[in-house]
Amino acid sequence: MADKPFLTDIKTLRERARKHIENGAITEGYTADRETVVKVLNEALATEIVCVLRYKRHYFMASGIHAEGVAAEFLQHANDEQGHADRIAQRIVQLGGAPNFNPEGLLMRSHAEYVEGETLNDMIKEDLVAERIAIDSYRGMIEYIGDRDPTTSDLLKGILAVEEEHADELADLLQDLPK
Ligand SMILES: [Fe+2]
Ligand SMILES: [Fe+2]
Repeated sequence: MADKPFLTDIKTLRERARKHIENGAITEGYTADRETVVKVLNEALATEIVCVLRYKRHYFMASGIHAEGVAAEFLQHANDEQGHADRIAQRIVQLGGAPNFNPEGLLMRSHAEYVEGETLNDMIKEDLVAERIAIDSYRGMIEYIGDRDPTTSDLLKGILAVEEEHADELADLLQDLPK
């Protein structure tokens, strides 16, 4: 690494860019293990999809028991997780991979679980557990990628910040709920 020049001359850069033009956004300067990054991102994608499904279930169930404030929070989170799933899928494609939307094995690929929960209290607790799992796994992914893929790293950091907000909001909801 140390004996590598910081910048290659423009001509070499341009030649490289042309040579592997079919690789899209992936240039020879990409030093991360692309296959592993795609695999890790597909696990994150599965996690987000499972979280969308769980929050949707909780949203409709909470609406049924007239917990409008909590239901609105569940819906907001479901929409946020859907946005995360979309951005992750997009990044997988940029990396030359294929996003895995196969329902078969979805739960196996996901880090977080799908727990329905009986009461409002249960639902919020299960969502909080799932958010904490997501927080830990995103942190692990960011550490793994290091500075080898700044775009993926920035994407994951942005998502991590939102998962932390989610966890914080759920913890507040749990406190406000009559025991
Ligand atoms: Fe998310
Ligand atoms: Fe979340």
